[in-house]
Amino acid sequence: MTAKFQAPKGVSEYFPPRSNLFEHVARTLISPALASGYEPIELPIFEDTELFTRGVGESTDVVSKEMYTFEDRGGRSITLRPEGTAGVMRAVIEHNLDRGQLPVKLYYKGPFFRAERPQAGRYRQFYQVGIEAIGINDPYLDAEVIAIAYDGYRKLGLKEFVLHITSLGDSESRNAHRVDLVQYIQSLHLDEETQKRAEKNPLRLFDDKRAEIQKAMSKAPILLDYLNSESRENFATVQNALNSIGIPFEVNPRMVRGLDYYTGTTFEFVHRGLGAQSGIGGGGRYDGLMEVLGGQELSGIGFGLGIDRVILAMEAEGVIPAELKYTDLFIVPLGSQARDAAFLLAHELRTHGFVVEQSYGDRALKGAMKAADKSGARFSIVLGDAELASGTVELKEMATGEALSVTLSGLANALAEKSRLRL
Ligand code: HAM
Repeated sequence: MTAKFQAPKGVSEYFPPRSNLFEHVARTLISPALASGYEPIELPIFEDTELFTRGVGESTDVVSKEMYTFEDRGGRSITLRPEGTAGVMRAVIEHNLDRGQLPVKLYYKGPFFRAERPQAGRYRQFYQVGIEAIGINDPYLDAEVIAIAYDGYRKLGLKEFVLHITSLGDSESRNAHRVDLVQYIQSLHLDEETQKRAEKNPLRLFDDKRAEIQKAMSKAPILLDYLNSESRENFATVQNALNSIGIPFEVNPRMVRGLDYYTGTTFEFVHRGLGAQSGIGGGGRYDGLMEVLGGQELSGIGFGLGIDRVILAMEAEGVIPAELKYTDLFIVPLGSQARDAAFLLAHELRTHGFVVEQSYGDRALKGAMKAADKSGARFSIVLGDAELASGTVELKEMATGEALSVTLSGLANALAEKSRLRL
């Protein structure tokens, strides 16, 4: 016997009925972005490897350990995108999107790839909804981006999450902090690898999971204390803007994002009902990224929200909507003449906007009614020779079993009366 194939280890897959939830979550998370004028962008899932090594940064786990990199047939080094921002910036520069109206406001949804150790909520292929607002550095835009994520979670019914925010300041503030931080780190006796990491980006050490490093870093100088007056004012404006629209947050000065391009406002949404993988989304401002990738010196801000983890969070909170697949009518034809008529009727009703299914195969009534039940349809009709002759059917409400005699020509109106759709 041939061995059965299995999906690669650590990927998340969605099939019915859960795939309905996946689509619902993605669409709902995108909807506040639409309300703020963001437009879609579709990009390749593979890019030149250097885009990520330069853009995301070599000190990060993502670049140093987790990229799916391979040589294509032309000998080019290609990487499956581990995140979306670098690719969006590449496209903005390549297609001169930054030469028009600013900010450029884009949203995307799709799979991302990181060769991580798989566990609950951590996958090697996972999904994000993301937005990027590029070209203008304005604290109100920072607040808009954060509000879009927050509104998306709330629309899905999530409550048990906390928004952490901090500011990495402008380059003057970061440089001042870096001098003291590097000096502090030099006073610690670190192994060679950690030291090398710290040389690339000393902030990384705040993110180190090892207890001894965490302890050593507990007394390290904090960037927030080094913000110059402009950066401080900017961060205060972001906080005031969030307060003004009732978005609660906690300032977390020790938060370090997993990607190197961040500057200014950074944030993370952490869900209380998830275990170790509690980050349901995060993002921030990136001042230097566009220039590093060969573009203009323009700032941007964005986020990535993990669809897989948002679904787990909804399950943890018990806020999964009951009705994610909706069918108005299920038609059960009996006999060959009725099959012709059912096919035509289903098509007609669909063009009116109803969701209509019918049973296929020459099924006996019992089997066909089971299919009607399973479809979750609100109503069903049986269409046999007698119904065709009389021109009337029994419109049966599946939940109650109640039936109503209606003429075939009046079916659309009868359905409209009872269903969501008003003709
Ligand atoms: P990130 O924090 O690396 O940011 O990822 C964003 C979200 O993707 C995380 O909060 C998490 O929910 C989800 N995620 C990340 N890795 C995994 C995984 N292995 N399995 C399941 N979910 C995962 C970014 O990717 C940035 N590009 C966000 C951004 C956009 N910053 C500015 N613009």
